[in-house]
Amino acid sequence: MKRLKIHLRTLFITTSLLASSVFAASVDLTVKADQPGPVINKNIYGQFAEHLGHGIYEGIWVGEKSRIPNTNGFRKDVVAALKDLQVPLIRWPGGCFADEYHWRDGIGPRNKRPVKVNTNWGGVEETNAFGTHEFFELAEMLDAEVYVNGNLGTGTPQEMAEWLEYMTSDTKSTLAELRRKNGRDKPWRVHYFAIGNEAWGCGGNMRPEYYTDLYKHYASFLKAPKDNTPKFIASGGHSEDTKWAEHLTGNVEPNWSLKMDAVSFHYYTLPKGDWEVKGAAIDFPEADWISTFAQTLRMDEFIRNNKAVMDKNDPEKRVGFYVDEWGTWYDPQPGTNPGFLRQQNTLRDALVAAVNFNIFHAHADRVHMTNIAQMVNVLQAMILTDKEKMVLTPTYHAFHMFIPFQDATSIPVDFKSPTYTLGDKSVPAISASAARGKDGKVYLALVNIDPRSATDVSVALKGVNPSSANGRLLTADAMDAHNTFAKPEAIKPVAYRAEVKNGKVEVNLPPKSVVVLALD
Ligand code: AHR
Repeated sequence: MKRLKIHLRTLFITTSLLASSVFAASVDLTVKADQPGPVINKNIYGQFAEHLGHGIYEGIWVGEKSRIPNTNGFRKDVVAALKDLQVPLIRWPGGCFADEYHWRDGIGPRNKRPVKVNTNWGGVEETNAFGTHEFFELAEMLDAEVYVNGNLGTGTPQEMAEWLEYMTSDTKSTLAELRRKNGRDKPWRVHYFAIGNEAWGCGGNMRPEYYTDLYKHYASFLKAPKDNTPKFIASGGHSEDTKWAEHLTGNVEPNWSLKMDAVSFHYYTLPKGDWEVKGAAIDFPEADWISTFAQTLRMDEFIRNNKAVMDKNDPEKRVGFYVDEWGTWYDPQPGTNPGFLRQQNTLRDALVAAVNFNIFHAHADRVHMTNIAQMVNVLQAMILTDKEKMVLTPTYHAFHMFIPFQDATSIPVDFKSPTYTLGDKSVPAISASAARGKDGKVYLALVNIDPRSATDVSVALKGVNPSSANGRLLTADAMDAHNTFAKPEAIKPVAYRAEVKNGKVEVNLPPKSVVVLALD
């Protein structure tokens, strides 16, 4: 009996190996480097840091007196990992938190700052220890651009205008002098400023018509020096919705274009597509794997539909479409405060990130910024911390592998994907994009969503004739492979070399994998 079991096991392993190697699907893909497209704005790789759970407190900020090694209160380990990730931009302070945030609470001596209740996220105390000065210090340490989200929901136009003046004025105004008294002489550069967040929901439950009027009202009073005027972002729709982008671009008059540089958009990937039972972050069935990808691939359709309505109102493409919240959202990690949105992060998350990058690259003409939710300890995080411990997630590694795409010039790719099917669900198995990096090299990103079958990708090239194709591969045996504090390197990228033969690059793409190659 025992022997029979061993035979069956051997047979099973042999069959699955055969399934992934001998029966690999094959794809012909063409990289058209002779037809360059728009630049992939580096801010497509933007991050989001909200006052939520341990996203800021404990995750980034521990205070100067902490036993955790820190520089001026910022965790050294986290800052070093984020520097290595070349984070181009950070959005702050929310999220839903932004529409209850009063900026004056977060300036001046820390021991005098008011303690508030974070009503959106767990009802915990908000000490305001991390405020405007701390945010800009973090951005300066990371050499990242800043995206400040203003409070439309519970703040006045005056409060919003004064925050902008506090940050950007180089005069001797009382507010500029207050900033100096608080330790910052020169104005900060504010790259982006949003007027509210999710106005359709936590930001005030408004209709697009009402919000559009409010947008114009608030924007009228947002004044900054000419050389330090941020790009202004209107809070747009989410998921299937196109009404917000349509109404905003149709009703903020063209001569206002300087004051509405972009409309935002949010879309979260829920494995089961259900806010009540979203699905588990680890230990999930293959049915959740395929439905996660079916859900996340909808990003393409949502962007297309919004671009179509924006193209009618704004054919010159003056207004950007910023996906300033996206990523996976699972059931909360057992044993954690459900209001803290903490979740484990697996190989599945890395592939979700990579598939979305490929979608964003394809829409680089309108999508100039996206912000994954969120940077540390919240939702699809780059980094998880627990007291003095820190671990990099598979999503961190996916972001790292795609660094060459920041500010690269997109290149069209042509291919017909095989289909990955499970039960009554089917999705295209392969996702791809290419670009010419700032270093002149052509980069190719490939994702194989199929968790069972490898795919041989034969890459023909136009306008480039490489002699090598080297890069990195991220994969693992288990769909839910993840890093823990005990095993922080259970999953990480490895070096990968593809063959260059007869002018073609031959890539054997393992099941459930991401590959990024430099064609040199
Ligand atoms: O990222 C978590 C929350 O999701 C944000 O605060 C809100 O804007 C969205 O609903």
